[in-house]
Amino acid sequence: MTDRYAVFGNPLSHTKSPFIHGAFARQFGDDLIYETIEAPVDGFAAAVRAFVDAGGKGFNVTVPFKVEAADLADEAHEAVVLCGASNCVKVEDGRLIAENFDGVGLVRDIVSNIGVEIKGRRVLFAGAGGATRGALVPFLEAGAGEIVIANRTVSKAEEICELLGPRGSIRACGYDAINGGFDIVFNSTSASLTGAGLPIPPVAFQGALLAYDLAYGKGKTPFLTLAEQSGAARLADGVGMLVEQAAEAFAWWRGRRPNTAPIIKAMTIPLK
Ligand code: ATR
Repeated sequence: MTDRYAVFGNPLSHTKSPFIHGAFARQFGDDLIYETIEAPVDGFAAAVRAFVDAGGKGFNVTVPFKVEAADLADEAHEAVVLCGASNCVKVEDGRLIAENFDGVGLVRDIVSNIGVEIKGRRVLFAGAGGATRGALVPFLEAGAGEIVIANRTVSKAEEICELLGPRGSIRACGYDAINGGFDIVFNSTSASLTGAGLPIPPVAFQGALLAYDLAYGKGKTPFLTLAEQSGAARLADGVGMLVEQAAEAFAWWRGRRPNTAPIIKAMTIPLK
């Protein structure tokens, strides 16, 4: 029987997940379908129930349902508990098991694809929303030397530090308090989606090995332009993270890890 998977979100017009999972399935000759389910904003739980009742085996979750997916789950893995949001669910005997692979995908992209080590590095995250929360645990586990979270609303960054502080060196600040360089600088704000710039002082990029915008398909965002002008050695957008988190999901659902390189290559848009 054909195995059923899906992505839930609203809106879903731009999702790349069906393309990515379709390509993964072809690598193994797997018989599966991967649907897009644009649930009503107040109808996520009912849509999930219908999918599970119809035999669905697993699903991804995107905006605006990631927090609801975590709440709905019968069992949640650590990354989900810590960040309160899930982007991937497995159905086992009708039970929902929630994971969050954003951070693992990001770490994998940086270490395996881009080739930058995380151990001992000074890392700056600009932004303290769901994207940062989702990414942090695997960074601490990968041995980042120091993590700084800068945010417009400093209290949101402080909240994350309180939650994760016991697990490593992590502190919060406002953009104006940044007064030195970092090895890796992330933009995990939603600013690139609207084309807005960020008040990151250029000194943050001094000696930077990598500036990484978690947004995908937005070209050279104001963040990446600032990073380039301020001396960052390498620029990246979120395509690798997107494909790597999908590969983690595929492997978790189906027990085989697909080859991500050809998919990343096909989806890469040069940063002009
Ligand atoms: P997501 O789940 O995508 O992370 P979110 O939880 O709404 O979305 O968080 C958005 C993040 O982008 C926040 O850190 C937000 O800063 P505030 O907490 O101060 O609102 C940040 N952000 C969005 N637009 C921004 C802008 N123009 N300048 C600076 N920060 C911005």
